Amino acid sequence: MALWGGRFSQGAADATFALSRSIDFDWRLAPYDIRSSLAHLDNLESAQLLSGPDSTAIRAALRELASEVASNRFLPISSDEDVHSALERGLSQKLGALGGALRAGRSRNDQVTTDLRLFAIDHILEIALLIADVQSALLEKAAQYVNDAAPGFTHIQHAQPISFAHELAKHAHALARDLDRINDWLTRASVSSLGAGALGGSSLSLDPAATAKSLGFHSSFANSIDAVSDRDYVAEALFIFSLIGVHLSRIGEEWTLWASTEFGWAKISDAYATGSSIMPQKKNPDIAELARGKSGRLTGNLVALLTMLKGLPFAYNRDLQEDKEPLFDSIDTLLLLLPALTGMIATTDFDRRKMAASAPLGFSLATEIADYLVGKKIPFAIAHEAAGACVALCESTSRQLHELTDEEFLGIHQGLDAGVRSGLTVQGALASRTSTGGTAPSLVKAQIELALAANTAQRSAIASKASTFLEMMSA
Ligand code: ARG
Repeated sequence: MALWGGRFSQGAADATFALSRSIDFDWRLAPYDIRSSLAHLDNLESAQLLSGPDSTAIRAALRELASEVASNRFLPISSDEDVHSALERGLSQKLGALGGALRAGRSRNDQVTTDLRLFAIDHILEIALLIADVQSALLEKAAQYVNDAAPGFTHIQHAQPISFAHELAKHAHALARDLDRINDWLTRASVSSLGAGALGGSSLSLDPAATAKSLGFHSSFANSIDAVSDRDYVAEALFIFSLIGVHLSRIGEEWTLWASTEFGWAKISDAYATGSSIMPQKKNPDIAELARGKSGRLTGNLVALLTMLKGLPFAYNRDLQEDKEPLFDSIDTLLLLLPALTGMIATTDFDRRKMAASAPLGFSLATEIADYLVGKKIPFAIAHEAAGACVALCESTSRQLHELTDEEFLGIHQGLDAGVRSGLTVQGALASRTSTGGTAPSLVKAQIELALAANTAQRSAIASKASTFLEMMSA
């Protein structure tokens, strides 16, 4: 059923209808649309624009429709254009002409963006909890490897030994910033657009602040034209999701490398790996690869939205209907990916012996030699040269740094007495890195404990927002 008609002499061509219809993807807004209709109904009633019996009948019909939608007893049909028209059809089937009463003082323009904000808030909270799960899987896994050395890399070349826990836990810190960004977003996105009407507000004495409050928004719009045009909250959410995707892709890349035969560090659990249809020996890290691969579509969705918004003129334009699929797709992608990644992380075991054996290779303790000389007040440039000379000698004679003789050390620099050897063990090198945030196991342990405590606090803050939202939805 079209929501217009009076000024049209013929119906839409099939191609027009097919192109403009959004019901195939916007039906998932139905619960939010019904909830905002209830708030709008209260507003119409308070303004005495509906009689008591009429508003009682509409309220009952909306509630009935909500339960029919939830149980799939009411579904869209092919002639429905979008979620709003489908639900108005549902109301009209129950109430006759009264089913169209809610259109007073409201347009699909303010309605759709209010619904989308509610949808986005609901789902970003779900995503935030799943991110907290990835974080705790990383931190709990890290806690098992505090005293295990591994080579640390720059340029994928051995750089300095690190505690493997430090390596795992670093990803949890990136995810903590994502949670912070979600928190900031929640504050900024929490503005109701309801009451902006088509673009200029309403002549009916409605109270947008009241609907905003009823729907749990922090505030109501200040400019009705902006209220129907603004999709910043979608763009920002998509940016946050892209960056989460980038962070997950970096986890994916490392896991993939670590699971390779060349590294042989990570043993991914069978439950979180896949096989090959032709090569019986294969065990592939597909979750890690999909974490890497899905970041492409998350970024693509952000670019699609920004490109659609660029240069868009005043107030509502039908282009804005294209805001939904990128948002839905990014949310669905993360809802699939995050639990799989958490499972993979929590069930991966690492080969401590192999990592430890490889930690000192590639002359990764050379910095210790330079630092030893600096401890004797030798300028770093000279210390660096001397340590480099030690590496060159080892390379030309196929030895490791600790295999140089006392004479050879002294020959390179007189400050390189026997004391230098204490830094040439991996555990000694690790233990010495006690600067803030450094890789000394004692510090790493404390970092992980702090991060776990922050994770617990984040979780309960998110859970309490989610339960407030749920209360609002079921009011
Ligand atoms: N389905 C539309 C959308 O998603 C609803 C708003 C339609 N507004 C209009 N003026 N045609 O944007």
